[in-house]
Amino acid sequence: MSLNVRLIVCINERLGIGQRSCVGSGNLDYIREIRVMIDSAGLNVSIIERECLDKCEQGPVMRVAPGGKFFTEIDSSTLPVIVEELKSFLAYSVK
Ligand code: FES
Repeated sequence: MSLNVRLIVCINERLGIGQRSCVGSGNLDYIREIRVMIDSAGLNVSIIERECLDKCEQGPVMRVAPGGKFFTEIDSSTLPVIVEELKSFLAYSVK
């Protein structure tokens, strides 16, 4: 079975005072960084941008799909973990 493995990323910025958001917490930089990592690893993964994943207070947020877990409060140390999760999904999809 072949899965369409995707990485859903939040590109939302909430402009209210004191409102945490993924862009406000640096997600655009992390998205750029993980895009390079995915390309460098040659992974067949689409990056899908979404306006909000309803976990604003835990941002930056990304989610592996289909059915993967949410990664919250992302920083640079989280990105290799997400790449490994993507690899495991891709390995599962070719079995
Ligand atoms: S701002 Fe990213 S989950 Fe809402």
